[in-house]
Amino acid sequence: MNPVSYEIIDQIGVIAVNNPPVNALSFAVRSGIQAALRAAQDDASKAILIICEGGTFFAGADISEFGKPPKEPYLPDLIDEIEASGKLVVAAMHGTALGGGFEVALGCHYRIALDTARVGLPEVKLGLLPGAGGTQRVPRLVGIAAALQLILDGAPIPAIAAAEAGLVDKIVSGDLRVAALAYVQELVARNAATRRTSELNVPAADEQVFAATRIAVAKSARGQTAPLRIIESVQASLLPFAAGRKRERELFVDCMQDPQSVALQHLFFAEREAARIKDLPRDIGKRRIERVAIIGAGTMGGGIAMCFANAGFDVTLLEINADALARGLSIVEKNYAGSVQRGKLSEEDAGACRARIHGVTDYDALADVDLVIEAVFEDPQLKKGIFAKLDAVCRRGAILATNTSYQDVDAIAAATGRPEDVIGMHFFSPAHIMKLLEVVRGEKTAGDVLATVMALGKKIGKVPVMSGVCYGFIGNRMLQGYFREAQLCLIEGSTPEDIDAALYDWGMAMGPISVADLAGLDVGYKARQALAPDQRGDPRSYRVPDALVAAGRLGQKSGAGFYRYDPATRAKSADPEVMQIVEREAQALGIQRAPIDANEIVERLIFALINEGMNILDEGIAQRPGDIDVVYAYGYGFPAWRGGPMHYADTIGLNYVIERIEEFRERYGSNNWQPASLLKTLVANNSSLARWAE
Ligand code: CAA
Repeated sequence: MNPVSYEIIDQIGVIAVNNPPVNALSFAVRSGIQAALRAAQDDASKAILIICEGGTFFAGADISEFGKPPKEPYLPDLIDEIEASGKLVVAAMHGTALGGGFEVALGCHYRIALDTARVGLPEVKLGLLPGAGGTQRVPRLVGIAAALQLILDGAPIPAIAAAEAGLVDKIVSGDLRVAALAYVQELVARNAATRRTSELNVPAADEQVFAATRIAVAKSARGQTAPLRIIESVQASLLPFAAGRKRERELFVDCMQDPQSVALQHLFFAEREAARIKDLPRDIGKRRIERVAIIGAGTMGGGIAMCFANAGFDVTLLEINADALARGLSIVEKNYAGSVQRGKLSEEDAGACRARIHGVTDYDALADVDLVIEAVFEDPQLKKGIFAKLDAVCRRGAILATNTSYQDVDAIAAATGRPEDVIGMHFFSPAHIMKLLEVVRGEKTAGDVLATVMALGKKIGKVPVMSGVCYGFIGNRMLQGYFREAQLCLIEGSTPEDIDAALYDWGMAMGPISVADLAGLDVGYKARQALAPDQRGDPRSYRVPDALVAAGRLGQKSGAGFYRYDPATRAKSADPEVMQIVEREAQALGIQRAPIDANEIVERLIFALINEGMNILDEGIAQRPGDIDVVYAYGYGFPAWRGGPMHYADTIGLNYVIERIEEFRERYGSNNWQPASLLKTLVANNSSLARWAE
């Protein structure tokens, strides 16, 4: 079916597009618009209106066409043709006019939008630049500085703000089609000019802005190439339009061919795919969730309560006594004050969210809730006791979830008479900020419970990924080998700064040693103590952490861990005392310390992640490689522009990965290094994870 229709209504040629779900500018849409535009030039219409059906104006180029041979008409040429039209062309926007979609509107002579619409150029998030004239037309309309901000930020802005800035001409409410037709009639009646943005001059700007923005971007978008190309492309808007457009095109092609863009596109689709459970029908019925209860008002419980309150849910927060409850609620209060201070929430909205959280100390208050999330500390007996209580108190059909990071969800479910209603919801700290939600499917978890929780995760603004039951689920299980190698590098010859710098420079949000200090060294210590000695991994890898804990160095919270922290500013500095401990422990183990180069540090840590990811896939703990990538990009500070550990493995080649792992096995022993059997199989078949996942 042709997604583009054309008809003349009251002398206006209306080009209407209907290409669900988001009216992406696919080949069929582009060619349909071109045909209609050409037909309109010679017919009885006096002006042309471009409008979309469904939930949104064009949400951009069709990303699923990227990487395939491009087909004419190309979007930039189509937009130039729209702008060159002898008859007036008007764009009518609703929903989200994004990327190439907004660039279509910028090529039109006038733009009208619903007051609820949002517009923007999110290409940077896909490692691209707005390559259909966006970097050339936006500066002509709003100036260099505002254009750089809009395009580098990538976040959509309300159409009303866009109108104030000069990107949209008219804002309306109600029926867009009716309002847009009236607007075009009005333009025709007053003989409005065919305003061509490409013919405008870019407002004069201080050229220092480019250098300053480059410096800012080197920090805020560390390691990324697209923002630098965006700056160059916007700078090219100072040239005559045709020359600027040519440079924009070259830079766009550079972006397209850059592995960073491929990685970011992979994550875009992986995130959406992760929401789908392979063995559940898409239309499976879901349970109604309106009232939510959280057990435990500690850092996690309070943060989870905020997530739900922020999304409009009624939240009951339970603690064991009034003191603990008051302490928990005061932290929530402080977090909301922080959000107001940082401009994330208005005073009024923060007050409304806070008012949705009701503190209680009695389990009877949970009798009617639809979902309970237990968020107490990691003590399996305590958790089982709570689930037995919930089983007695909660109504039939309520979903009972645990926020455990490591424990066996099946064992917790077995403490109830309704294991089918039990599930894991593993939030990441700080829970009201971090986007990842691991949804842990127990052996007996009912399909509708799983589907409900996956959908609910999205509703509260999280990125939900399903994991099967195992120690640490997807994310924390993989982290064990990563942390093991960080500690082994330390005791074998590196310093904490060497290790952190190697991973940070490679793109991780934070080095692993700093992460350990942030999480608290006592947390890892207690987790180890709860395991049998043969489950704790290589004993050499926790010699130093154990010694630091014994010395009262618990990480940031005690002012010292692997680093020393300034009590006032929390600024960290290297601590010679730590190196004395490291050297002492190395000597006790008979290790001759020798420096390790940054590349080897990175490969040992990252390949340990990849290898365990392979095991996780083989065991069916994760549904797909892309799910693991989403977990790492959203929950563990893995650079999104590398696509996540599994995509990265494909990018550098599984042959190379196995070669290095085998070398590590030779050098460091087979206890820590055994190539995963899936890795061996894929290499033997000359395959990749992407092909395996198809
Ligand atoms: N191309 C192809 N498919 C797209 C798409 C696009 N531009 N945008 C969204 N989709 C698909 C999604 O993959 C999803 O498909 P499935 O249902 O099969 O998973 C479906 O549309 C719905 O998307 P969401 O689940 O994300 O729905 P939402 O309502 O939460 O969000 C949205 C809608 C705000 C438009 C969001 O999808 C989005 O941000 N899309 C990307 C927009 C974008 O980046 N546009 C720029 C493209 S690059 C470009 O245009 C280059 C250029 O200048 C030449």
